[in-house]
Amino acid sequence: MENKHYAIAIDGPAAAGKSTIAKRVAQALGFTYVDTGAMYRAFTNAVIKKGLDPHDEQQAVTLIPGMEIDLLEDGRVICNGEDVTKVIREPLISGNVSYIAAMKPVRLALVDMQRAIATKHSVVMDGRDIGTYVLPNADVKIFQTASVETRAIRRYEENMQKGIPTSLEDVKADLRKRDYIDSHRDFAPLKPAVDSILIDTSFFSIDQAVDAVLQAVKKKLGGLPTC
Ligand code: DC
Repeated sequence: MENKHYAIAIDGPAAAGKSTIAKRVAQALGFTYVDTGAMYRAFTNAVIKKGLDPHDEQQAVTLIPGMEIDLLEDGRVICNGEDVTKVIREPLISGNVSYIAAMKPVRLALVDMQRAIATKHSVVMDGRDIGTYVLPNADVKIFQTASVETRAIRRYEENMQKGIPTSLEDVKADLRKRDYIDSHRDFAPLKPAVDSILIDTSFFSIDQAVDAVLQAVKKKLGGLPTC
């Protein structure tokens, strides 16, 4: 008999620390980490690189056929054979990705890829619609949030470390804009699943946030799963 594949969904607004926490939780459980935001970012980069308008759905959808996005175990993101790991974190991509992520045909194509990964592996998948749409039967659903001030400072410091020049005010404005677009789009908007566990990390260290998620998993599943 095949082993059960577990799915842990972590949703929440931009820069709530989801990827850092999800990665650590995946590591602790031996699961595959799936950064779905990186997929929307890679698609956005492909659109811009081709000289297409990221606000124009008719133009953007022409890239769906043949689009290949691979999330490697070492964290690299490969789009149609090209390593886009660094470029997808640039402000140009962050500023446009919400428009691409609001396009239903793009979402359907990327959701297919996300579900395919979850059928083959036990996953910790982070995004906006994982618990509500991508994996509605996920074993554990977390909605991770933090105040916009905390999130802006975290993202700003992350950008500084990566050598991406930004100001704190610009980061905060971008987060507010993205949160608005992500939670007001028609199809699969950002919102907590009714059966999600809310974790506010505003005053948590990374270790405390990881621990809170692992405790929630333990409580929901009666112990920590292994794959
Ligand atoms: O998590 P992130 O900042 O890398 O996500 C980039 C954008 O992609 C974000 O503005 C919302 C969108 N996104 C989405 O709509 N659905 C997901 N499952 C993941 C990300």
